[in-house]
Amino acid sequence: MKATAVAPSNIAFIKYWGKKDKNLRLPANTSISMNLSNAFTTTTVEFSADNKKDEIYFGEKRMDRKSSIRVISHLDRIRRIAKKNLFAKVVTQNSFPQSTGIASSASGFAALTLAAVGAMDLKCSEKDLSILARLGSGSACRSIPCGFVEWKVSKTSENSYSFSLYDEKHWDLKDIIAVVSTEEKKTSSTLGHENAKSSPLFSKRLEHLPARIVKLKEALKEKNIKKLGELIEKEAIELHMIMMTQDPPLFYWDGSTMEIVKLVRLWRNDGLLVYFTLDAGPNVHLICESKEENKVLEKLKKLSYIKNVIINSPSSGARLIDKHLF
Ligand code: DP6
Repeated sequence: MKATAVAPSNIAFIKYWGKKDKNLRLPANTSISMNLSNAFTTTTVEFSADNKKDEIYFGEKRMDRKSSIRVISHLDRIRRIAKKNLFAKVVTQNSFPQSTGIASSASGFAALTLAAVGAMDLKCSEKDLSILARLGSGSACRSIPCGFVEWKVSKTSENSYSFSLYDEKHWDLKDIIAVVSTEEKKTSSTLGHENAKSSPLFSKRLEHLPARIVKLKEALKEKNIKKLGELIEKEAIELHMIMMTQDPPLFYWDGSTMEIVKLVRLWRNDGLLVYFTLDAGPNVHLICESKEENKVLEKLKKLSYIKNVIINSPSSGARLIDKHLF
C-alpha cells in the first residue's frame, strides 16, 4: 500500500488571508493562483501492518513528534475515510528551501493528500482531493487542479474547494522567484491568519475584493499582463499592509524585498513589463510573460543580495508517479 505524488507549490494572485473557520480552514475570501513548475514537493506514503507508529521523514531526516503532528492529523483524516487503522511511513522532499514564503505547506499537503489517498487505494474526485488537501493547509487545495486555479469561498466545507480556470498551457507566464532569504520564518501563516481580522483594513478588503476578482479573471482570460500585473501588485501590497497592521503586527519583508519592489517599478518605467507579488515571506515573485524572462534574469544577476533564482512556468496540478522515494 504505497504511492508517490508530486505536487506544485502555487503563487496566489488573489491572496487567502484570514479564515471564517480555523479548524475547517474555510477562507474569508475567494483566492486565485497559478501552479509553479519548479517549486514542488514529492511525497511517498506507505501504510503497512508492519509499521508500529507513523514515521515521517523530511529527506533523510526523521521529523520529531512535534513537527510531525500536522502530518499525522492529516493521515488520521485519510485513515478515517478508508476505515483502516494502519500506521504510515512518509518520506517527503522539496525542490526548494522550506519556510521561505515559497509555499511549502501548499505543495506539501497537496502531495501528502494524493499520496496517502493513493496508498489507501481510495477513489476520490479532484473536488474530494481538494477539500481534503484544504483541511491540511488552505493553500494546498489550490495545488490539486492544473494551471490557473480558483478556490471558492463558502460557508460549508463541501463547497469550499478549488478548480481549474485554465490549464497550464493557457498563458506562457513566468514566476521568477528572487530568493533573498532561506531562513525559516518566525511566525507561520497559520498563526498569522488568526489575527488578520484585527487589522482595521481587513473588513475594507473584503468589501472591494469581489470587484478585484472579476477584473483579475478578465486579465487572465484576455492574457493581459499589464492588467494582471497592476492587480497582483495591489493585492501583494494590501496583504502586507494587513499583516503589518494586525495585532500583533507581522513583518515578512526585509530590506532586500523593498529594494526589489522599488527596482521592479523603475524597470517598468524603462518598458520592461514585469510585476511583483509576495507571500508570507521576504522572497519576491516576479511575474512576466516568457518573452521578458531573459531581460528580467539579466537585471537580477546584478543584485548581489539575491541568493538564488527559481524560474517557474504554469504547471499541472498534483499527480501520482511511479518512482517512489523508498
Ligand atoms: C500568504 O495556506 O499557509 O501564502 O491554511 O493555515 O495552512 P494555512 O495557511 P496557508 O496560507 C497561505 C497564505 C498566503 C496567501 C496565499 O497563498 O493565498
